[in-house]
Amino acid sequence: MTESSQRSGPRSGFTRRAFLKGSSAVAAATALTTEQAEAQAAQAKIAKGEQSIRLTVNGKPRAVKVEPRTTLLEVLRQQLDLTGAKPVSTDGSSGASTVLLNGKPVMASTTLAITCRGKSVTTVEGVDNTVPKAFVAADAQQCGFCTPGFVVAVKAFLDKNPNASEAQIRSGLNGNICRCGTYANVIDAAVSVVKGGGNG
Ligand code: FES
Repeated sequence: MTESSQRSGPRSGFTRRAFLKGSSAVAAATALTTEQAEAQAAQAKIAKGEQSIRLTVNGKPRAVKVEPRTTLLEVLRQQLDLTGAKPVSTDGSSGASTVLLNGKPVMASTTLAITCRGKSVTTVEGVDNTVPKAFVAADAQQCGFCTPGFVVAVKAFLDKNPNASEAQIRSGLNGNICRCGTYANVIDAAVSVVKGGGNG
């Protein structure tokens, strides 16, 4: 068999099956939305180590460098100097690292920063004064280590349930733990917000 016949024969790889397979892949790729394509590109880069991402934190656009293993909590505390969210539990079971991601409460300690690309993060430093003032008025903290997580959790819960009952508040905050045992006062603070306390 000549060299040219080898190139054009079945073993060259240019088979009808391969051509159709390639065409299907092209069609699928062109069907992706820009958002999907960007998400895929981000995933493809994950294995390459550190990369820059942009996100909005407390209303301000921020650019940070992250590795695939970097948590949102590490970015907030070590790169952006926002130390309100606390590194209490690596599995998020304490609730002390609660922040809002696109308005929803998440544990920053278990959220990979790379997944926050282009998203909006609100930490306790970016929460308005209503809930913090209610905590102060109700004496809802002792050591205060859990307090930022509780404040963000109360804020998220009451934004979604502004007329929540005390029982609903207790249930809604069951993802946050206070080793000092200030639960009663935390609940009092949240109830006072429902009743209009903490304003001003
Ligand atoms: S006030 Fe100390 S852990 Fe809650």
